[in-house]
Amino acid sequence: MGYIDVHSHILPGLDDGSRSIEQSVEMLRIAWEEGITKIIATPHNMPGKGCPTIEVLEERLIQLRTVAENAGIDIELYLGTEYYYREEVSEILEREDAVTMAGSEYVLLEFNPLEERSYILNAVRDVYSLGYNPVIAHVERYEQLMKKKEDIAALKNMGALIQVNASSVIGDNGYRCKRDVKKLLKEHLVDFVATDAHSAGHRAPRMEKCAAYLYKRYGQEYAEALLFKNAEKYFF
Ligand SMILES: [Fe+2]
Repeated sequence: MGYIDVHSHILPGLDDGSRSIEQSVEMLRIAWEEGITKIIATPHNMPGKGCPTIEVLEERLIQLRTVAENAGIDIELYLGTEYYYREEVSEILEREDAVTMAGSEYVLLEFNPLEERSYILNAVRDVYSLGYNPVIAHVERYEQLMKKKEDIAALKNMGALIQVNASSVIGDNGYRCKRDVKKLLKEHLVDFVATDAHSAGHRAPRMEKCAAYLYKRYGQEYAEALLFKNAEKYFF
């Protein structure tokens, strides 16, 4: 079975991810070569980076699906959104206007890298109380949170799922980051490894090297959970 990439800025012209449909197709080709067969496109919803409407998101998704099909790339594409958490996000959820992960009850949330632990814990509580399950995007980025591994376990107990970036697993974001991610993986506190791809260049949808590492280091069962089984279980 192929990998499922649950965090990707592959839809063109919406945020700091893909700039054009051509670049999106290039990203799809790379993803396919890397063994990815399903992608949940998660453009930013963040003031200053982009807050596309549902109509625009759906239009871009259909456009990319069509182009992918014509190019013979057999990757299934779904819609999500990476919400930069702020009060307005709770309002969006309350109005039931949120673009969730492939239409599930899960919403991808990101925070300021320097955000306080208590703020993140409260946000998760808040989102959960509105009837949604948060997925914490690239948890390794939140410095305050990473200081206390117990917080990650607490977030999970509160109904959150945890995502880390493939690039962080293999050390592309520095030694400290890799070390932090390793600690979480060792205790099976991570639910998804995703690419968080932004381009076909420096931030391309690379998964294979990370996948090989996960299988070797953590065994088949956990590697498969991280790479596709959990996504299948929670989002589809
Ligand atoms: Fe992202």
